Amino acid sequence: MSTTLLAPVVNKSGYETYGIGNFTFERDEYFAHILYPGNRHVMPVEAFLRALMRDVAWGFFYGSVNFDHVFGTINHYGTVEMFVGLNNASYRASHQEYVETFQSWDLKRVFENILAGWTNEGFDPFAAPEETGQAYGPRHGNNHQAIRRQRLAAKRMLGLPGDLGVRTDASGLTVNRQFTDVPQDAPELHPEPGFESEVHGVNLFAYLSRSDVTWNPSVVSVVNDSLLCPTTEEHILPIIHGNDRVEWFIQLCDRIIWDVEDKISGAPLAKVTMKAGDVSAMPADIRHRGYSPKRSMLMVWENNDGTLPHRHASGELKPYPVEF
Ligand code: PHB
Ligand code: FE
Repeated sequence: MSTTLLAPVVNKSGYETYGIGNFTFERDEYFAHILYPGNRHVMPVEAFLRALMRDVAWGFFYGSVNFDHVFGTINHYGTVEMFVGLNNASYRASHQEYVETFQSWDLKRVFENILAGWTNEGFDPFAAPEETGQAYGPRHGNNHQAIRRQRLAAKRMLGLPGDLGVRTDASGLTVNRQFTDVPQDAPELHPEPGFESEVHGVNLFAYLSRSDVTWNPSVVSVVNDSLLCPTTEEHILPIIHGNDRVEWFIQLCDRIIWDVEDKISGAPLAKVTMKAGDVSAMPADIRHRGYSPKRSMLMVWENNDGTLPHRHASGELKPYPVEF
């Protein structure tokens, strides 16, 4: 076989085309084109790359990751469905939905390649729009450094020996421009002698004030299936997240406005404005997207119990956590 047959397909804007199953992904200077049997879905490439970044970094996350109201993925923890129109009442009503199932690892590898091939120098899909260059234009350079960031997961509580280490100017993580009012002092610690490596406290606000990414929870504490995932938010959550379990939010500062919709149809259900100190439980049968007008801090509390998706789907568990 001639090697030219194996050469990647590169279009006149310099972008490679990627395929998996019956899906083909093309990009031009402004748009991502998702081709599937019989049709094409088009998304602004910036929104597509921001969503793709989250789907890759979070290993397809919990439940569904909707890139917009048409295209997305559903995690089955080992396999993953990629769909067009599956979570869209109009597509479903006219039988226009299209779904394929992949091994998670295979789809992740293709997604990583798209992200690497389509992210231009100067564009960071994790950054707030005001803090990054543009995604648009003909292919120029790359930003592997930004897209290969790994989500940080604590092995021990933040700040204890052997863990992530607290963020400092010296580690290159400076206080964000919108968090200059956040006190940087550390808590006083008085452990009993011999317990110095086991008793600890950190200033979580100071830690978060130095986060250089948006809408990318860090797992700062793991206790059995309880994952505390604080994050800093600015602009729009790049995906519309469809839950397969209950998820709790604690607004740590400032404000996020959430659109809550039916998970399957996308029908609007609620607008939730969360101000500093507000707590909400996002039910297992909804999807949500947050808007943060100014950089804010959010604690996302996840339950990693792998039995939850089918217990909710079978009706054994109610979609909400408490009955008032
Ligand atoms: C969510 O879908 O619940 C979510 C994801 C990322 C965030 C915040 C919330 O940064
Ligand atoms: Fe969510």
